[in-house]
Amino acid sequence: MAYKDLYAGWKADPEGFWMQAAAAIDWDRAPSRAHFDQGPAGEWFADGLVNTCWNAVDRHVEAGRGDQPAIIHDSPITGTTASITYRALRDRVASLAGALRDRGVGKGDRVIIYMPMVPEALEAMLACTRIGAIHSVVFGGFAAHELAVRIDDARPRAIIAASCGLEPGRVVPYKPLLDAAIEGARHKPEFCVILQRDQQPAQLVPGRDFAWDSIQKGVTPADCLPVEGNHPAYVLYTSGTTGQPKGVIRHTAGHLVALAWSMRNIYAIEAGDVFWAASDVGWVVGHSYICYGPLIAGATTIVFEGKPVGTPDAGTFWRVIEDHKAKSFFTAPTAIRAVKREDPKGDFIRRHDLSCLQAVFLAGERADPDTIQWLEDRLHLPVIDHWWQTETGWAIAANPLGIEALPVRKGSPSVPMPGYDVQVLDEAGHPVAPGTLGAIAVRLPLPPGTLPSLWNAEDRFRASYLAHFPGFYETGDAGYVDEDGYLYIMARTDDVINVAGHRLSTGAMEEVLSGHPAVAECAVIGVADSLKGQMPVGFLCLKKGVDTPDAQVVREVVQRVRDQIGPVAAFKLACVVDRLPKTRSGKILRATMVKIADGEEFRMPATIDDPAILDEIATALRGLGYPQG
Ligand code: COA
Ligand code: AMP
Repeated sequence: MAYKDLYAGWKADPEGFWMQAAAAIDWDRAPSRAHFDQGPAGEWFADGLVNTCWNAVDRHVEAGRGDQPAIIHDSPITGTTASITYRALRDRVASLAGALRDRGVGKGDRVIIYMPMVPEALEAMLACTRIGAIHSVVFGGFAAHELAVRIDDARPRAIIAASCGLEPGRVVPYKPLLDAAIEGARHKPEFCVILQRDQQPAQLVPGRDFAWDSIQKGVTPADCLPVEGNHPAYVLYTSGTTGQPKGVIRHTAGHLVALAWSMRNIYAIEAGDVFWAASDVGWVVGHSYICYGPLIAGATTIVFEGKPVGTPDAGTFWRVIEDHKAKSFFTAPTAIRAVKREDPKGDFIRRHDLSCLQAVFLAGERADPDTIQWLEDRLHLPVIDHWWQTETGWAIAANPLGIEALPVRKGSPSVPMPGYDVQVLDEAGHPVAPGTLGAIAVRLPLPPGTLPSLWNAEDRFRASYLAHFPGFYETGDAGYVDEDGYLYIMARTDDVINVAGHRLSTGAMEEVLSGHPAVAECAVIGVADSLKGQMPVGFLCLKKGVDTPDAQVVREVVQRVRDQIGPVAAFKLACVVDRLPKTRSGKILRATMVKIADGEEFRMPATIDDPAILDEIATALRGLGYPQG
């Protein structure tokens, strides 16, 4: 069936469409219907009973795939590869789940997972969903304070962590960060499970910390516990406009149905195929397409502990694809830009047999046409941009390879997927004409697998996503649609920026800068960067009478952001200015500052208090090397 017919079929009968998709899942009790008009934005398959881990692991063993690799771990940083079959995965997960259960973790309890790219991270996630516990994975590049904020919001009964992570050329000790986070948090977990890694084993706190292996000694493996379709499988925190991250809730049944549908229809992956998403379990891509999606599909997933370049070189991606026969490869455009910068001619690509590969999928930020072209010219394969968010959990717009490979239009993530009625709206909420820029919104209800609300924050959910355009979900992205229905995602409408495919909040960084005793006020903006897409730049106005040299204040705020948010914020550029450009009502003109930094034309804001300040900002930016080139 062609995409157009499929999309029209969904529109004509959404209930029938999703009930049919639900047939891909093993239910302990089949749902009576697909959509339930309940909760702030609707729910899916709410009266079904189902278990995520059963669908991702056990059922494939029952179906005769026990000896097939479920997970391949490839770590160019340690120089090792390992493979775990579906049968071994089931046994390992059941054992860990049994250990958690024996220590009192049950249905609805939260478990925070703070781990690097090792198979045990996926095992920890699956062990939680096996017993109905709700996991919340925290990205390893976040510092202790960010972890503490999540501990206080999720209130976990347990935390599962590794002793360390590995970045090129350095070991990142996770355990001291974990200890500091628990120390700083108001909520205290009852116990921690620590995976000891050879590179840096951790000191365990007696009575609180248990080693991964020892806690499982003599344990009776846990069975899969069926849960209601609207039971949360996980909470994943993502950046909003403030320092308080948003806890995106993922309900069990919709997640299973949507991911199963997407694996087949978007990524064209079937049981037995090898799928590789080179992201991190700490991000939504890692949840959906390193852990759950490929496993629900009965495919083999690759867990990659390395970087696109430097581990050891710009040929790593192609080596991994060849070695493990990956059929589809998913990464962020920034990673390809990093490869292209080191290997502009693509010499490494030619050294590998990539005949196994059918397509490359890009997401996390806008895929710039140059990057797509560069890859297409060298791989001679479809290079597919697709657009989605932590909130949606799977693609809003894509080129659905499993249905029909639509012509690629570079700069566009192609067309809306079934379930998403995407509209481009003006400020008053009216649809705009094709080609006109507007706010991108999705008519409610959102499809299965998307967020039903925010953890502990239903009011914030309504205010952030539902209030602006009644009847719609506001994506926070702006863009336009062309005459043929292709979407173009151009910018965020809020203070969220995207640095190397990582979603970050400038508001959160401003909170950290404001905490410096010398800083009177500040602004952080995201400026265009040829490698990372965007980079944060801070502007600081110092308090009267401060005699600390500017350079020292800058050094100190850079260190503060690294210590409080984490290295992933990549906050390295800041400058001291006398004043910030503001409107007469006192609003900082961040958008105008971004335009100056990016070397774009801008109209002088009519409400600006003092236009001369913009010259000072431009001078400061030039001092930092912006606009680039
Ligand atoms: N644990 C600890 N530290 C981490 C980390 C982790 N899991 N991940 C990143 N960091 C650190 C890095 O070591 C770096 O530290 P440094 O400032 O001391 O150099 C810092 O955080 C910034 O990291 P990053 O922005 O990733 O920059 P980089 O220079 O190390 O690498 C790229 C640049 C483009 C190669 C890399 O960002 C990349 O592969 N991006 C793809 C991202 C992606 O897949 N996103 C998921 C969406 S699909
Ligand atoms: P995250 O929640 O971390 O996945 O980030 C989601 C945000 O990243 C989106 O709201 C967009 O701003 C941006 N984004 C992700 N994928 C794309 C894409 N393919 N094109 C443009 N922007 C994207």
